[in-house]
Order: sequence, then C-alpha cells, then structure tokens
Amino acid sequence: MGALDGDPPGPVPASVLVLGGAGFIGRHVVEALVARGRPVIVGTRHPQWRSHEHPAWVHREVHLDRLLDAASWGDALRDCSAVVNCVGILRERGHETYRRVHHHAPAALAQACAARGLRLIHVSALGLDADVRSGFLRSKRDGENALRNSDADWHLVRPSLLDGEGGFGARWIRRVARWPVHPLPPAASGRMAVLDVRDLGEAIANLALDDTPSPRGAVVREHDLGGLQARTLAEHLAAMRAMHTPRPALRFAIPDILARIAAHVCDLFHVTPFSYGHWELLQRDNCPRENRLPILLGRAPRVVGMPVITTPPLSPVALPTALRSSQ
Ligand SMILES: NC(=O)c1ccc[n+]([C@@H]2O[C@H](COP(=O)([O-])OP(=O)(O)OC[C@H]3O[C@@H](n4cnc5c(N)ncnc54)[C@H](OP(=O)(O)O)[C@@H]3O)[C@@H](O)[C@H]2O)c1
Repeated sequence: MGALDGDPPGPVPASVLVLGGAGFIGRHVVEALVARGRPVIVGTRHPQWRSHEHPAWVHREVHLDRLLDAASWGDALRDCSAVVNCVGILRERGHETYRRVHHHAPAALAQACAARGLRLIHVSALGLDADVRSGFLRSKRDGENALRNSDADWHLVRPSLLDGEGGFGARWIRRVARWPVHPLPPAASGRMAVLDVRDLGEAIANLALDDTPSPRGAVVREHDLGGLQARTLAEHLAAMRAMHTPRPALRFAIPDILARIAAHVCDLFHVTPFSYGHWELLQRDNCPRENRLPILLGRAPRVVGMPVITTPPLSPVALPTALRSSQ
C-alpha cells in the first residue's frame, strides 16, 4: 500500500552496487532496479566517462583487477545492501587478466560480502561445466567455484547468448544476419536459447530485491536462463534476418579447421568478437537444463527474432500458478 498524504517518508532503501553497471548486461540490471524504485551505484573503471553517458546514475570507481583480497573491497562496498557482478572481459590487457577479473576478484568479493551479510549475484555463462580448454572459460568456471565455496548469500546467474540494443556480440549477430550469405562452419551445431537482455536485467533485479526468507539449504542458488527457442547459430541468424526480409540467406559451409584457425588468430591479435572460447561454446549446446527465467520474471520470456524455425521449443518450465491461470 502506498504512503498516505501527511505520512512521514519511509526510510530510503539501501543501494544495490552493480559492478560493470555501464556494460551491456549491467545497464539493463541498473534500469530494472531503478524502475523498481531502488537506488543504485554503478561500479566502473571510468566514472568520469560513464557519468557523462548516464548522468542520472551514481558512479563509483572500481577496478576488479586490483581487489584481490576481501579487505580491499571495503570502500567499494560501503552503503550498499546487495551486489550484482556483471563484470567480464573478452581480452586480457596488462593487469586485467582472466584470472584476476573472473576468478580472484570475485572470490575476494564473495568473502567480503559474507563478512558484511550482503547478497551477491554473479553473472556467469552456460557451458562451463564441460571440459573447457580456453583460459577465458576456465577462469569463469573457477570464479563460479569460488562462490560455491564461500559463505556468502550468493547466486549464480548463467544466461545463454543475449540479444538486445548495445551489446557488442549482439550487434555483430544482427549485422551478419542481414548479409545475403551466411558463412558457417558445420561444427558450430550447438544450440543456444537466446534471450532478450531486458529480461535478464529484470530477472537479476528481482533476484537482488527478493527478501523472501527461506531456510539456507532450500534456496536455489544457480539459475540457468534462456529464451523460448533452442536454435543453432545458423537458425538464430535466420530468425534475426527474418525480422528484416522474408528472403532467406544462402548458407555457405566454411571448413571447421578454418574457423578454428580464425579463432586462434583473433586471440593472437586480440580481435573481437570471435575467440577460441567462442569456438568451444559454439560446438555444444548452451541451453539451460532447467530454464529459471520464467520463474524469476513471473511471466514468459520475450520472443527473440522471428519464429521461422521449426525446432521444438525448450521443455516447458512450470510457471507460477497465478500466471498459468491468467494465460
Ligand atoms: N553478452 C552476452 O551475450 C553474454 C552471455 C552470457 C554471459 N555473459 C557474461 O556476462 C558478463 C558481462 O557481459 P556484457 O556483455 O555485459 O559485457 P560488457 O558490455 O563488455 O560489460 C562488461 C563490463 O565490465 C566492466 N569491466 C571490465 N573490466 C573491468 C575491471 N577490471 N574492473 C571493473 N570493471 C571492469 C566494464 O565496465 P567499465 O568499462 O565501465 O569499467 C564493462 O562495462 C561477462 O562475464 C560475459 O561473459 C555475456
């Protein structure tokens, strides 16, 4: 119930710190938290630039590659009640190594959150439990394990590939989808459940603000998230292309070995968006085992691309009873 006229204003809720809050995922988490009336602090390496981009938001300088033990997190965590970590790097640069940014800093952050009783939501990725070889994926997998081994009130969020405005990879896929020819290596046959980044932002905001008490052992802490369809890269490109033209693109098979060499060359010259880690991910399914997105959203996820593909939808997830009856 809202406050009545004349009532004293209630206490201002504590802020949620969103690390990487000016990035693709982080920005949508911040928008969803702000829409829910929650004050937010955006963690960024460059508060001076980011505050020009988002003048309405509060910014705080945070460099994960420098925060490698719990004690060093004190300043970054002041005045906040929960932390969402959306930081990730595709390329190493100087001190910003995969180990520091994806593993050691999140491990220290988890310890610091445990000591302060703060909820920690960590954005990771699907596909890390297989026998991954790239340093990028191994560091992310070790970061997940560090949270599991901590005493923090942690949650791991693992989205499949994302679509939406402003994402570097998403922009590339949208661009390639418009090409009349789609060059594709046959081994890129893994299916993914592409989801809308706005849904991810809302799901994470709901998780950050959920204060339903539940016994520690009963809490679901790992959340695989995906959209409604399981598609290969070729099918996803077709679905995105169909939003602009009914004419399908010509699919052109490039040898797998060429794709693998291209991935190594991109790694060698620090070129994005392709890497050996992406090549590993493309070759196997990256769909949620149990899709928790409808549960965290309390509704069905948004549709991504045009439904031109005839692959079966992912196994349905039980929606909350209230939702089921309203559909
Ligand atoms: N995009 C996808 O489709 C997708 C899918 C599944 C999982 N993920 C994972 O989600 C995470 C975020 O992805 P994204 O697409 O949002 O990436 P993004 O747009 O590149 O955002 C990452 C943010 O991390 C921050 N950052 C980088 N290095 C940092 C450091 N040393 N210290 C502090 N902050 C640092 C950057 O913020 P500043 O520049 O402001 O400092 C940047 O905005 C990654 O771990 C990624 O692997 C992404």
